[in-house]
Amino acid sequence: MGRYFLIISGLFFSFFQSPVSDAQNKKFPGISQQKKAWHTIKTMVNLPVISPFKKRYSWVQLAGHTGNFKAADSGKILKRFSENEKECFERLMKDPLRSCVPCFHGVVERDGESYIQLDDLLTDFEGPSVMDCKMGIRTYLEEELTKAREKPKLRKDMYKKMIEVDPLAPTAEENAQHAVTKPRYMQWRETISSSANLGFRIEGIKKADGTCNTNFKTTKTQEQVLQVFAEFIEGNTTILKKYLKRLQEINVILESSDFFKRHEVVGSSLLFVHDGSGNANVWLIDFGKTTLLPDGQTLDHRIPWQEGNREDGYLLGLDNLIGILESITER
Ligand SMILES: Nc1ncnc2c1ncn2[C@@H]1O[C@H](COP(=O)(O)OP(=O)(O)O)[C@@H](O)[C@H]1O
Ligand SMILES: [Mg+2]
Repeated sequence: MGRYFLIISGLFFSFFQSPVSDAQNKKFPGISQQKKAWHTIKTMVNLPVISPFKKRYSWVQLAGHTGNFKAADSGKILKRFSENEKECFERLMKDPLRSCVPCFHGVVERDGESYIQLDDLLTDFEGPSVMDCKMGIRTYLEEELTKAREKPKLRKDMYKKMIEVDPLAPTAEENAQHAVTKPRYMQWRETISSSANLGFRIEGIKKADGTCNTNFKTTKTQEQVLQVFAEFIEGNTTILKKYLKRLQEINVILESSDFFKRHEVVGSSLLFVHDGSGNANVWLIDFGKTTLLPDGQTLDHRIPWQEGNREDGYLLGLDNLIGILESITER
């Protein structure tokens, strides 16, 4: 293993001064009108061994659960094992979508834990800027909704997060319980962000200078999202055109993919990566919640969701993303 692996968060962060942490302390003024402070949360940085033969490189985890990832051999990452995600990757490796996802290299054991081994998508970039967009109009599975109804599990942590953003959001009952159910919290997150209206939302951005922002919970309108994308791309039309071309390619491949037809794709993201040399690409990541439909059932991925039809609005989100990037090219 060629690199040290560090999780930078909270107190640890204040003691540890790396080039990345210095940069992360800077404010990013472009977003300030939206009152989005750039800060460091859930940022996992993979520091290289100082060697003249290795480029300086930092791996970043923009979203998801802290502690889900581990360092792997050069060019690969390890993600905490889930049977569902492993099966998805096995199916994806035999599908046209293979060219749009990180290559899957099987399951490995480390310190008594299982991990899926994936290509590190940042490897070919020099000082990459990274954006995670969670796709779909819905971020919870229908089965989660059913379970929560049958056996409601009250979450005080989610209630707390809710009132931090909007003290008026909880109902009287939720206020009395000081708790909300998970699907209720996730549905609320969809309505305050762009998930419900645009079919995707921005989860996090790390820029080449190391600044990180995962505070897009209330970035909701087309104009707000466009602003964030414009800041991310920093006026580089080469990168913008590459992103657009790749999204259009992904759109065509999705339409031809048997995997896509036969899965409810929930909680999956598009990972945008570019660097100063004009290298830019997009991949589909995170199939932890992507669920195979019963035999014979397929999804349209565009028609509105009604409980029972399992539609996820993935293609609605992709249409909107493409439309937003196109309107940046026209400005
Ligand atoms: N193959 C990969 N290459 C590079 N970065 C990745 C890769 N997979 C995930 N990441 C990073 O880790 C973050 C979380 O990954 P994800 O698969 O969504 O985990 P979770 O299931 O915990 O949400 C992403 O936002 C991205 O920054
Ligand atoms: Mg994720």
